[in-house]
Amino acid sequence: MVSGRVQGAFLNLVTRMLRPRRVLEIGTFTGYSALSIAAGLEDGAEIHTVEIDDELEDIARSFFTRSVHGHKIHLHIGSALEVVPRLVWPTPGEERVFDLIYIDGDKREYPDYYRMVMGDGGAPAMVRSGGIILTDNVLWYGKVVGLKSDEIGLRDGSSDRHTAGVVEFNRLVATDPRVENVILPLRDGINLIRVK
Ligand SMILES: C[S@@+](CC[C@H](N)C(=O)[O-])C[C@H]1O[C@@H](n2cnc3c(N)ncnc32)[C@H](O)[C@@H]1O
Repeated sequence: MVSGRVQGAFLNLVTRMLRPRRVLEIGTFTGYSALSIAAGLEDGAEIHTVEIDDELEDIARSFFTRSVHGHKIHLHIGSALEVVPRLVWPTPGEERVFDLIYIDGDKREYPDYYRMVMGDGGAPAMVRSGGIILTDNVLWYGKVVGLKSDEIGLRDGSSDRHTAGVVEFNRLVATDPRVENVILPLRDGINLIRVK
């Protein structure tokens, strides 16, 4: 479940390069990637990380409180699809957008996360123009290559719904004129997406 050390170093370096003020992570698990990002954040910047499994809250918080970067991390428990649209911004009137988003939640929900952050449900987009969306596991152990496009409709049947979710996500991104992207074959594949 946890991102590897190379990936942690990658997230840290990307964060230092982009110097985001506000970051969103979907899928905290024990907090390794959130800490990797937080360690790259400048003072005053923050990461909001969302985890659906409340049994992980104590262990993630225990790592955050032991880190000098823990104060930059805001942990939210619940489904990102419900929690993120309800996040309250501290400064009234401030645009509710993230500079950097890291998607690493349930692979079946990847298309829903993408539609949510891009504002496809009618709500405003949650990522600013020029912002970056990094998405993990987009090669999904190579299984994305085996799934034919006409099998994607079988998502609710006996086919591999996780693979189908990742395939659909990659297709949404590749055909979306609002973004440009490249898939980095780092570990299980990271989709690096820039919002125009
Ligand atoms: C691959 S793990 C995340 C690993 C973590 N980003 C890291 O590298 O240390 C995926 C996590 O997403 C969580 N998750 C699944 N569906 C979610 C949802 N709808 N909202 C938030 N978290 C979710 C799972 O409970 C799991 O802990």
